Amino acid sequence: MNPGIESISMYIPRYGLDLHDLARARNVDYAKYHQGIGQEYMAVPAPDEDVVTLGTNAARQALQNVDRSEIRTVIFATESGVDQSKAAAIYAHKLLGLPANCRTVEMKQACCSSTSALHFGLSTVAMHPEQKVLIIAADIARYGLGSAGEPTQGGGAVAMVLSADAKILRIDPHVGYYTEDVMDFWRPNYRDEALVDGKYSIKVYLNALENAWKHYKDDSGAGFADFAHFCYHLPFSRMGLKAHLHLARHENAGLGAKELQAQVEPSLAYNRRIGNAYTASLYMGLLSLLETGPKNLTGKRVGLFSYGSGCMGAFFGGKVIEGYRQHLHTRLHQDLLDNRQNLTLAEYEDFYNHVLPATGETYRTDRHRTGSFRLAGIENHQRLYEPVPSMRIMAADAAEARVAAPAV
Ligand code: HMG
Repeated sequence: MNPGIESISMYIPRYGLDLHDLARARNVDYAKYHQGIGQEYMAVPAPDEDVVTLGTNAARQALQNVDRSEIRTVIFATESGVDQSKAAAIYAHKLLGLPANCRTVEMKQACCSSTSALHFGLSTVAMHPEQKVLIIAADIARYGLGSAGEPTQGGGAVAMVLSADAKILRIDPHVGYYTEDVMDFWRPNYRDEALVDGKYSIKVYLNALENAWKHYKDDSGAGFADFAHFCYHLPFSRMGLKAHLHLARHENAGLGAKELQAQVEPSLAYNRRIGNAYTASLYMGLLSLLETGPKNLTGKRVGLFSYGSGCMGAFFGGKVIEGYRQHLHTRLHQDLLDNRQNLTLAEYEDFYNHVLPATGETYRTDRHRTGSFRLAGIENHQRLYEPVPSMRIMAADAAEARVAAPAV
């Protein structure tokens, strides 16, 4: 049995903000965003997108070569849930046309519930190797206009199909955990934006890394030198580098700065251009490594650290499987990253400030550029989702290409 990731894909909003524009508007030196926190661009969801549409768009792609009748469990990991009772997984399950004999659930623990979802999913696969599990991690990171966290905002989703016949990454059974009750970042029910003690959150993240790593080492017997590459939860890309240097120092890894940088740098490329996507962030880092890193990672071991504020950390590892490249959606992901519409600062603030009426009255959301699913509106307190015909997606892309083309 080869339990792990059979298929993985990401989806990001089709709009974004260049951080040069944000720096100008907030009167901040762009170098602080670019070098200090390592960000270039922020993904901005449209008013007719939410975690259900983001996640379902990612899952549609991840399921492309999978027999949907084999999916028996859908776990939706998010901290930007749309309902206090009903799981986002149920909306996704319907939009994706999954079989009715399916278990569907939503999970929460800040950014790291996606990793618990992954390990719960793998336990299911170990018990029932004939079944497959769909994990969807989707989030929208919001800190507030003009806040210190603003340049780290972002959003998007990653979906993974887990099976006993992994085609991309075999996941090792050992996991190192660390939990501690701290208030570094949280979002009470009555708020749309997170509250955060930014500098403290970085300290807590590094402490959770040290402790989860120690538990992992004791449990698995593996060490730093067993891994060729590392992926970290990325609230912003510089955090990945900070975390790796911290771990290497703690372990007396004996590697030079260049070697350490090479172990983590390929996992940072997507985050720089997306921003924080909470539960999806670590797995966007994994995609970034697999799709932009060294051409042949077959047989290499990757160490992954998942962090969720509040807080919980988990360290685990996996081995890249021969032939993995042919199962990736690299071209699609790079098209998504390269073909986004730049918002002006005013448009970004309008998107950011858009809210659905809390009274539940009938409301239709304006149509924007989205993927294959959008939030059509609300009626009787019920969210309405609809598929978007691919012709309409292509027409929006073509119209934008015409606008962007230089006049001749
Ligand atoms: P800040 O106060 O804006 O920035 O907050 P700063 O003053 O600390 O500067 C940041 C870095 O830029 C520093 O580098 C500066 O020196 C440098 P460092 O000391 O870290 O090496 N800098 C410059 N560099 C070049 N040119 C310049 C310049 N000026 C300054 N001109 C902070 C930054 C990250 C705290 C803020 O953005 C924030 O609060 N972010 C949100 C919280 C966060 O991301 N925390 C990370 C750990 S917690 C986590 O990962 C969990 C999370 O994802 C949530 C979840 O689990 O659900 C957030």
